[in-house]
Amino acid sequence: MTRLAGKTALITGAARGIGLAFAKAYVAEGARVAIADIGIQRAQQAATEIGASALAVEMDVTNQPSIDNAIARTTAHFGPIDILINNAAIFTAAPIVEIDRADYERVFDINVAGALFTMQAVARHMIAHGTKGRIINMASQAGRRGESLVAVYCASKAAIISLTQSAGLNLIPHGINVNAIAPGVVDGEHWDGVDAFFARHEGKPLGQKKREVAAGVPYGRMGRAEDLTGMAVFLASDEAKYIVAQTYNVDGGNWMS
Ligand SMILES: NC(=O)c1ccc[n+]([C@@H]2O[C@H](COP(=O)([O-])OP(=O)(O)OC[C@H]3O[C@@H](n4cnc5c(N)ncnc54)[C@H](O)[C@@H]3O)[C@@H](O)[C@H]2O)c1
Repeated sequence: MTRLAGKTALITGAARGIGLAFAKAYVAEGARVAIADIGIQRAQQAATEIGASALAVEMDVTNQPSIDNAIARTTAHFGPIDILINNAAIFTAAPIVEIDRADYERVFDINVAGALFTMQAVARHMIAHGTKGRIINMASQAGRRGESLVAVYCASKAAIISLTQSAGLNLIPHGINVNAIAPGVVDGEHWDGVDAFFARHEGKPLGQKKREVAAGVPYGRMGRAEDLTGMAVFLASDEAKYIVAQTYNVDGGNWMS
């Protein structure tokens, strides 16, 4: 199980949840991983738990010097970057008439501009080093269709699917494959926040929204972060070299496209 032997990966938002599961899966496949997150304490805990193949890096994807510093720190420690996973994102929800401009700008700054300018900086780095690299963006089923209360987050994830298409086409002549993963509903701290929002907004007891969405997943339960690692390893592996500009649903059958 060393499909990523000798590879260096930078994973944003990897201190917890799906990004952390990706980091562990990549190390298990022989890669070295920079756990880049705005929450440096959690990132350090994660890196300590994983061991010498992991490096905690403080990174704010909304800040260009922080992006550049994360790339420089990763490269100084492990060598040039072969794989980027643009995973950091935040969730927000509100009815259209209550959407707050500052909240919209923050979500798009992290979820869209953060992913775009991290992708740009890593692509420049890969081109400069002649690296035939891989970039994986985290989209969502939220990007496949709108949701009544989730306009801004859904739009941010639709933008990720579109950016993946454009960047995929633009970077493949350099030998850099850009693709995306669209999870469905994945249990964890992210969904604790989603559940709490719906509890407030729809007057449901805590945990009720999770039970409802879990019942609606054709597979029969919410996703777990570990359900996504197979796709993340595959897209970074040599087996996926002819896959360009695609977004893959990994969602227990929640959405077909
Ligand atoms: N959990 C789900 O149900 C689900 C479904 C579809 C898509 N996704 C997507 O998968 C990805 C991971 O989701 P998750 O559930 O693990 O989320 P999460 O909220 O558990 O983790 C997100 C991580 O991003 C970090 N982060 C936030 N802002 C940052 C910034 N400015 N710079 C750097 N790091 C920052 C956070 O500190 C956190 O560690 C996200 O892109 C999310 O939109 C999640």
